Amino acid sequence: MSFLLWSSQGVKAVMKNNYATLRTVPSAGARHPFETYIFVRLVKGLKRGLYRYVALSHSLVLEKEGDFASEVADAALGQKFVGHCAATFVWSVIPYRTEWRYDLTSYKPILLDAGHICQNLYLACEALNLGTCAIAAYDQEKIDKLIGLDGYDEFVIYMAPVGKPKRY
Ligand SMILES: Cc1cc2nc3c(=O)[nH]c(=O)nc-3n(C[C@H](O)[C@H](O)[C@H](O)COP(=O)(O)O)c2cc1C
Repeated sequence: MSFLLWSSQGVKAVMKNNYATLRTVPSAGARHPFETYIFVRLVKGLKRGLYRYVALSHSLVLEKEGDFASEVADAALGQKFVGHCAATFVWSVIPYRTEWRYDLTSYKPILLDAGHICQNLYLACEALNLGTCAIAAYDQEKIDKLIGLDGYDEFVIYMAPVGKPKRY
Protein backbone atom coordinates (compact mmCIF):
# COMPACT_ATOMS: atom_id res chain seq x y z
CA MET A 1 0.00 0.00 0.00
CA SER A 2 2.83 2.33 0.92
CA PHE A 3 4.56 1.73 -2.42
CA LEU A 4 1.34 2.10 -4.42
CA LEU A 5 0.54 5.42 -2.74
CA TRP A 6 4.10 6.64 -3.09
CA SER A 7 4.20 5.74 -6.78
CA SER A 8 0.90 7.42 -7.59
CA GLN A 9 1.00 10.61 -5.46
CA GLY A 10 4.16 10.58 -3.28
CA VAL A 11 5.77 13.95 -2.49
CA LYS A 12 9.46 14.08 -3.41
CA ALA A 13 10.05 17.75 -2.50
CA VAL A 14 8.24 20.85 -1.26
CA MET A 15 9.10 23.99 -3.23
CA LYS A 16 9.82 27.48 -1.86
CA ASN A 17 7.34 28.80 0.78
CA ASN A 18 5.19 25.68 0.36
CA TYR A 19 4.20 27.01 -3.07
CA ALA A 20 4.16 23.61 -4.72
CA THR A 21 5.08 19.96 -4.31
CA LEU A 22 7.10 17.81 -6.63
CA ARG A 23 5.77 14.27 -6.77
CA THR A 24 6.39 10.90 -8.36
CA VAL A 25 3.96 11.87 -11.14
CA PRO A 26 4.07 15.00 -13.31
CA SER A 27 1.37 17.69 -13.01
CA ALA A 28 0.91 20.80 -15.14
CA GLY A 29 2.47 23.72 -13.22
CA ALA A 30 3.04 21.30 -10.29
CA ARG A 31 -0.56 22.02 -9.25
CA HIS A 32 -1.36 18.44 -8.16
CA PRO A 33 -5.10 19.05 -7.75
CA PHE A 34 -5.94 15.52 -6.55
CA GLU A 35 -6.67 13.71 -3.28
CA THR A 36 -6.44 9.95 -2.89
CA TYR A 37 -9.04 7.91 -1.00
CA ILE A 38 -8.78 4.16 -0.56
CA PHE A 39 -11.50 1.68 0.35
CA VAL A 40 -9.44 -0.99 2.10
CA ARG A 41 -10.77 -4.56 2.44
CA LEU A 42 -7.89 -7.03 2.36
CA VAL A 43 -4.64 -5.29 3.23
CA LYS A 44 -2.48 -6.81 5.99
CA GLY A 45 -2.16 -4.45 8.94
CA LEU A 46 -5.04 -2.17 7.95
CA LYS A 47 -8.60 -2.26 9.26
CA ARG A 48 -11.33 -2.33 6.67
CA GLY A 49 -12.57 1.14 5.90
CA LEU A 50 -12.24 4.35 3.95
CA TYR A 51 -8.84 6.01 4.23
CA ARG A 52 -7.46 9.33 2.97
CA TYR A 53 -3.83 9.59 1.89
CA VAL A 54 -1.97 12.56 3.38
CA ALA A 55 0.70 12.99 0.73
CA LEU A 56 2.83 15.53 2.61
CA SER A 57 3.44 13.13 5.51
CA HIS A 58 3.06 9.94 3.43
CA SER A 59 0.48 8.66 5.89
CA LEU A 60 -3.10 7.40 5.99
CA VAL A 61 -6.08 8.73 7.92
CA LEU A 62 -8.93 6.32 8.67
CA GLU A 63 -12.04 8.30 7.77
CA LYS A 64 -14.73 5.61 8.23
CA GLU A 65 -14.34 2.05 9.47
CA GLY A 66 -16.29 -0.74 7.75
CA ASP A 67 -16.65 -2.85 4.63
CA PHE A 68 -18.00 -0.69 1.80
CA ALA A 69 -17.64 -3.29 -0.98
CA SER A 70 -21.32 -3.31 -1.93
CA GLU A 71 -21.68 0.47 -1.82
CA VAL A 72 -18.53 0.95 -3.94
CA ALA A 73 -19.68 -1.67 -6.48
CA ASP A 74 -23.10 -0.04 -6.62
CA ALA A 75 -21.54 3.39 -7.15
CA ALA A 76 -19.43 1.83 -9.95
CA LEU A 77 -22.64 1.02 -11.83
CA GLY A 78 -22.72 -2.56 -10.53
CA GLN A 79 -19.12 -3.45 -11.51
CA LYS A 80 -18.66 -5.94 -8.67
CA PHE A 81 -14.87 -6.23 -8.88
CA VAL A 82 -14.50 -2.49 -8.28
CA GLY A 83 -15.84 -2.90 -4.73
CA HIS A 84 -14.98 -6.50 -3.83
CA CYS A 85 -11.21 -6.25 -4.42
CA ALA A 86 -8.43 -5.88 -1.84
CA ALA A 87 -8.38 -2.08 -2.09
CA THR A 88 -10.11 0.47 -4.29
CA PHE A 89 -8.20 3.65 -5.11
CA VAL A 90 -10.42 6.67 -5.69
CA TRP A 91 -8.98 9.98 -6.82
CA SER A 92 -10.87 13.22 -6.35
CA VAL A 93 -10.03 16.57 -7.87
CA ILE A 94 -10.14 20.00 -6.25
CA PRO A 95 -10.31 22.07 -9.46
CA TYR A 96 -9.47 25.39 -7.80
CA ARG A 97 -5.88 24.26 -7.22
CA THR A 98 -5.39 24.37 -10.99
CA GLU A 99 -8.01 27.00 -11.90
CA TRP A 100 -6.50 29.92 -9.94
CA ARG A 101 -3.52 29.63 -12.24
CA TYR A 102 -4.88 28.33 -15.55
CA ASP A 103 -8.48 29.56 -15.46
CA LEU A 104 -10.69 27.98 -18.15
CA THR A 105 -7.78 26.16 -19.74
CA SER A 106 -7.48 24.02 -16.56
CA TYR A 107 -9.70 21.19 -17.69
CA LYS A 108 -7.24 19.80 -20.20
CA PRO A 109 -4.27 19.57 -17.78
CA ILE A 110 -6.46 18.23 -14.95
CA LEU A 111 -7.57 15.31 -17.11
CA LEU A 112 -4.07 14.71 -18.45
CA ASP A 113 -2.70 14.77 -14.89
CA ALA A 114 -5.28 12.18 -13.77
CA GLY A 115 -4.10 9.83 -16.52
CA HIS A 116 -0.54 9.99 -15.23
CA ILE A 117 -1.60 9.02 -11.71
CA CYS A 118 -3.50 5.95 -12.80
CA GLN A 119 -0.77 4.92 -15.23
CA ASN A 120 1.77 5.04 -12.40
CA LEU A 121 -0.53 2.85 -10.31
CA TYR A 122 -0.58 0.34 -13.19
CA LEU A 123 3.24 0.35 -13.27
CA ALA A 124 3.57 0.00 -9.49
CA CYS A 125 1.04 -2.86 -9.47
CA GLU A 126 2.93 -4.64 -12.23
CA ALA A 127 6.13 -4.38 -10.17
CA LEU A 128 4.38 -6.04 -7.20
CA ASN A 129 2.59 -8.68 -9.27
CA LEU A 130 -0.78 -7.06 -8.53
CA GLY A 131 -3.60 -6.22 -10.90
CA THR A 132 -5.50 -2.99 -11.42
CA CYS A 133 -7.99 -1.48 -13.86
CA ALA A 134 -8.80 2.16 -14.66
CA ILE A 135 -12.44 2.93 -13.86
CA ALA A 136 -14.35 5.89 -15.23
CA ALA A 137 -17.82 4.30 -15.27
CA TYR A 138 -19.41 5.33 -11.97
CA ASP A 139 -22.33 7.29 -10.63
CA GLN A 140 -20.90 10.70 -9.75
CA GLU A 141 -23.38 11.55 -7.01
CA LYS A 142 -23.22 8.14 -5.35
CA ILE A 143 -19.43 7.94 -5.14
CA ASP A 144 -19.07 11.58 -4.02
CA LYS A 145 -21.65 11.00 -1.28
CA LEU A 146 -20.01 7.76 -0.13
CA ILE A 147 -16.72 9.57 0.41
CA GLY A 148 -18.33 12.74 1.76
CA LEU A 149 -17.39 15.14 -1.06
CA ASP A 150 -19.59 18.10 -1.98
CA GLY A 151 -19.44 17.27 -5.72
CA TYR A 152 -18.64 20.88 -6.58
CA ASP A 153 -15.38 22.06 -4.98
CA GLU A 154 -14.17 18.46 -4.78
CA PHE A 155 -15.44 15.45 -6.68
CA VAL A 156 -14.29 12.00 -7.80
CA ILE A 157 -12.50 11.92 -11.15
CA TYR A 158 -11.07 8.37 -11.45
CA MET A 159 -11.02 5.01 -9.66
CA ALA A 160 -8.90 1.86 -9.71
CA PRO A 161 -9.46 -1.43 -7.87
CA VAL A 162 -6.30 -3.31 -6.86
CA GLY A 163 -5.85 -6.96 -6.02
CA LYS A 164 -3.95 -10.14 -6.67
CA PRO A 165 -4.93 -11.26 -10.17
CA LYS A 166 -5.44 -14.78 -11.35
CA ARG A 167 -2.52 -15.69 -13.64
CA TYR A 168 -3.52 -17.83 -16.62
C1 LIG B 1 -10.27 6.28 -18.83
C2 LIG B 1 -10.57 4.82 -18.72
C3 LIG B 1 -11.74 4.39 -18.15
C4 LIG B 1 -12.02 3.03 -18.00
N1 LIG B 1 -13.16 2.63 -17.34
C5 LIG B 1 -13.38 1.31 -17.16
C6 LIG B 1 -14.52 0.87 -16.41
O1 LIG B 1 -15.30 1.65 -15.87
N2 LIG B 1 -14.71 -0.47 -16.27
C7 LIG B 1 -13.84 -1.38 -16.81
O2 LIG B 1 -14.05 -2.60 -16.62
N3 LIG B 1 -12.74 -0.98 -17.51
C8 LIG B 1 -12.50 0.33 -17.68
N4 LIG B 1 -11.37 0.72 -18.34
C9 LIG B 1 -10.43 -0.31 -18.84
C10 LIG B 1 -10.55 -0.51 -20.35
O3 LIG B 1 -11.76 -1.14 -20.65
C11 LIG B 1 -9.33 -1.34 -20.81
O4 LIG B 1 -8.16 -0.58 -20.62
C12 LIG B 1 -9.46 -1.74 -22.27
O5 LIG B 1 -10.53 -2.62 -22.43
C13 LIG B 1 -8.19 -2.40 -22.80
O6 LIG B 1 -7.79 -3.46 -21.98
P1 LIG B 1 -6.29 -3.51 -21.38
O7 LIG B 1 -6.10 -2.26 -20.54
O8 LIG B 1 -6.26 -4.76 -20.53
O9 LIG B 1 -5.35 -3.56 -22.54
C14 LIG B 1 -11.09 2.08 -18.50
C15 LIG B 1 -9.90 2.51 -19.08
C16 LIG B 1 -9.62 3.86 -19.19
C17 LIG B 1 -8.31 4.30 -19.78
